Amino acid sequence: MVDTDTFRTVMGQFATGVTVVTLPVEPPHGITVNAFSSVSLDPPLVLVCIDHETRAYELLAGEDGEGVGGYCVNVLTADQRDLGEHFAGIVDLDRDPFDADPTRTEVSGAPVFEESLAYADCTVEAAHEAGDHTIYLGRVGSAAVLDADAEPVSFYGGEWGTIAGD
Ligand SMILES: Cc1cc2nc3c(=O)[nH]c(=O)nc-3n(C[C@H](O)[C@H](O)[C@H](O)COP(=O)(O)O)c2cc1C
Repeated sequence: MVDTDTFRTVMGQFATGVTVVTLPVEPPHGITVNAFSSVSLDPPLVLVCIDHETRAYELLAGEDGEGVGGYCVNVLTADQRDLGEHFAGIVDLDRDPFDADPTRTEVSGAPVFEESLAYADCTVEAAHEAGDHTIYLGRVGSAAVLDADAEPVSFYGGEWGTIAGD
């Protein structure tokens, strides 16, 4: 079996965008996630993979199996890198983004960061335990591009970046 360091390095060669997945709890919770994928067009389904060591997992799983029933995937712009670092626990911002940044809610009740590139608001359709993560399949009830001109933030080889035009 491949060792953890090799696996991490290999997976890091797959360039991704970065999202903040928000949860409809009070106070709201956010977690930086790049294990995000489209799954199905009809019905519209996405997935996020959430580490069992995180607070987000505690909230989604719930104490008696009755966890939070929805989430919103916010696709970050290059200008929102600080949000991604904040919700990954890498930096402490001098503001609470849930108070200071413009947000709204859609179907799930999870905050939508309105300065994001795009969002997909979901209800949890299924949860599949997968090793030390759980895959949360979400049915997308509301989604939109919020800023078509913004540049996405990228993550590749463990580094944050931007996607240069060609
Ligand atoms: C670029 C990047 C991508 C990440 N992707 C994921 C992910 O897909 N799933 C996950 O569970 N954690 C991911 N993390 C780690 C979490 O964001 C981190 O553990 C966070 O502090 C957990 O927050 P919480 O415990 O407050 O919920 C990622 C971190 C970074 C920097």
